[in-house]
Amino acid sequence: MPTEPEPVPPILTAVDLTPLNTFGLPARAAQFVEIEHAGQVRPLLAQPGWGERRRLVLGGGSNVVLTRDFPGLVIKVAIPGRVLVADEADARYVRAGAGENWHAFVRWTLAQGWGGLENLSLIPGTVGASPIQNIGAYGVELEERFHSLDAISLEDGRMRRFDRADCAFGYRDSVFKHAEAGRWLIVSVTFRLPRRWQAVTSYGELARELEVATGGDPTPQQVSDAVIAIRRRKLPDPAEIGNAGSFFKNPVVAPDLFAELIARNPGMPRYVQPDGSIKLAAGWLIDACGWKGRSLGPVGCFERQALVLVNRGGACGADVLRIASAIQHDVERRFGLRLEPEPVVV
Ligand code: EPU
Repeated sequence: MPTEPEPVPPILTAVDLTPLNTFGLPARAAQFVEIEHAGQVRPLLAQPGWGERRRLVLGGGSNVVLTRDFPGLVIKVAIPGRVLVADEADARYVRAGAGENWHAFVRWTLAQGWGGLENLSLIPGTVGASPIQNIGAYGVELEERFHSLDAISLEDGRMRRFDRADCAFGYRDSVFKHAEAGRWLIVSVTFRLPRRWQAVTSYGELARELEVATGGDPTPQQVSDAVIAIRRRKLPDPAEIGNAGSFFKNPVVAPDLFAELIARNPGMPRYVQPDGSIKLAAGWLIDACGWKGRSLGPVGCFERQALVLVNRGGACGADVLRIASAIQHDVERRFGLRLEPEPVVV
């Protein structure tokens, strides 16, 4: 992946972002640039007025809610590349360009015979966005397979390597959502795929799906196929109906609050965390408030998974925020819990 300075790619004006966000929300970027090489970033910083210009880095647009026209520069990251960087006795280290499509990258690793990312199959978005929210599904979080990432400072153009500790990963969370938010353009991500592979089947529905499909002892490819089958059953395909995946994070509560909640709601799903806190299912809470399958204006609460909001046609960001706050209000009134949105609201 070249880092030598290259000419600044064309900066376009008044670019329609509707096709560039999976929710299909209408918004325009005052300025827009697409980056295909790391070396194209530094010359951008030398442009007059760079320091004052508002910036938004966009990957696959699968985790944003665009609520208005963006008055600054949108930087679309389209840096390609997939390479095995080290092949060691205990693990393989695989690097991908930030612009690679996440699922295509996962399937490529599986086609090479390298297991490790299969539980994260079919997650929309790009490789570069994956560490920002520490994507996770079906018992695996990105941080468990993450080795490091390379990023360029949007303030002074220096390149920095972030290791796992630097990223401060949490549940759908990292340093890139807090102290380092908006300061870096992620160029590539390196994954560590242990050679001793074991299927992760802690998620009940995945274990059942694999039992039916394989009778046990699945290959990484078969785990991936099972994850794909489950996701296709439950989650809307953004290519068919606009959405940004789970709209809220699952709330994590302390044991004493949980004791009160479970006394009143015995059927409530719960997942005890390693630190003793309890993660609740936001989809269940929303469902219990009667929102599943309902719409408010052009935005719906998906009929097969209440945690996902869908654009039923012609929605704008304000429509999404309206139903989101109505849902938050009802969940708070009934359960005393404030749901926190998962995508980034711009
Ligand atoms: N549930 C309901 N009604 C609903 C939805 C869910 O009762 O409408 C119940 C389910 O029956 C289950 C529980 O809630 O008992 C949890 O549901 P599910 O297993 O579908 O997972 P989730 O907690 O809703 C999370 C992730 C998903 C990920 C799945 C599988 C978050 C915010 N979401 O969803 O990630 O695919 O687990 O691991 O953590 C995403 O981040 O965009 C995403 C789709």
